[in-house]
Amino acid sequence: MSDRITQLREDFDRELAAVASDTEAGSLRDRWVGRKSGLLTAEMKTLGKLSPEERKTAGAKLNELKNSVEVAIDGLLGSFAAKREAEQLAKERIDVTLPGRRIQAGHLHPITLLRQKIEDIFVSMGYEIEDGPEIETHFYNFDALNIPENHPARSPQDTFYLTEHLALRSQTSTMQIHAMQKRQPPLRVAAPGRVFRRDTPDATHNPMFYQVEGLLIDRGITLGDLKGTVEEFVRRLFGLETRTRFRPSYFPFVEPGAEIDYTCFKCGGGGCRVCKGSGWIEMGGSGMVHPNVLRVVGIDPEEFSGFAFGLGLDRLCALMYGLDDIRLLYENDVRFLEQFS
Ligand code: PHE
Repeated sequence: MSDRITQLREDFDRELAAVASDTEAGSLRDRWVGRKSGLLTAEMKTLGKLSPEERKTAGAKLNELKNSVEVAIDGLLGSFAAKREAEQLAKERIDVTLPGRRIQAGHLHPITLLRQKIEDIFVSMGYEIEDGPEIETHFYNFDALNIPENHPARSPQDTFYLTEHLALRSQTSTMQIHAMQKRQPPLRVAAPGRVFRRDTPDATHNPMFYQVEGLLIDRGITLGDLKGTVEEFVRRLFGLETRTRFRPSYFPFVEPGAEIDYTCFKCGGGGCRVCKGSGWIEMGGSGMVHPNVLRVVGIDPEEFSGFAFGLGLDRLCALMYGLDDIRLLYENDVRFLEQFS
């Protein structure tokens, strides 16, 4: 019996060495220690034929063999599993020291960048920034701004009318009225925003564009304050050496009114491509707030006076960034927009 058991062990070891998969290991287990047809199970059953003496030693040896078969098969299954896990880990290995994929950050629109810069300047000069409606009644668009019934700005050729009583604002000067209705003087307000005019789009026109309005009302304000403020404003925007000039002009809501020019930020006034050789760039309109406008909002023009000035952002933006067409600003072409930050 002892020889037989040695033989069985050798057989098993040989078969075990040939096992290459979990399924084969399962079959090997069935073949050797399966409850019904296992070789060792059958072998156990023959023990009964032996003498009690022999049965004892043979039984112990058979049990030992049976246990070592179980242990060997378990060990093999375990090593298969470990190998699989190692392979999977190797396959899914991540090099955490590799640089990450760069997340593409968004960009602020060039108009937004310019608007923020201008807002910062106004805030540094003590102005509050205010936002207001883009749809206005005729009161805010025209009447309160002293624009007479027959003024060309009222014509449907220039203004987008929405209903009989409403229109898209064609200038941020409407914000003068809102600002003065909300506050008691003295006041300083700057209002950036979109305005709308029935212009045919071309390189320098777009039916929607941006303006910023500045308004200051206090006691004893003069044209000198307007000039000083505008001069300080352009120095903060374009540099200390910038100068301004005022050309008399007419806007119904100011008296007197003036167009503001400033020395070209590119050439400093000598003349170049940006300023078309003149050395000057147009900034916008300005003037002393008309007494009629003050009266509309219940401010006594005998006690208070003030000034307003407005500038357009789009053409300025185009000049600053060297754009030859302001429509680029509204085409939302990412290749264009991602150049600004
Ligand atoms: N609103 C005027 C325009 O759009 C500019 C302006 C603003 C003029 C303030 C005078 C005072 O042309």
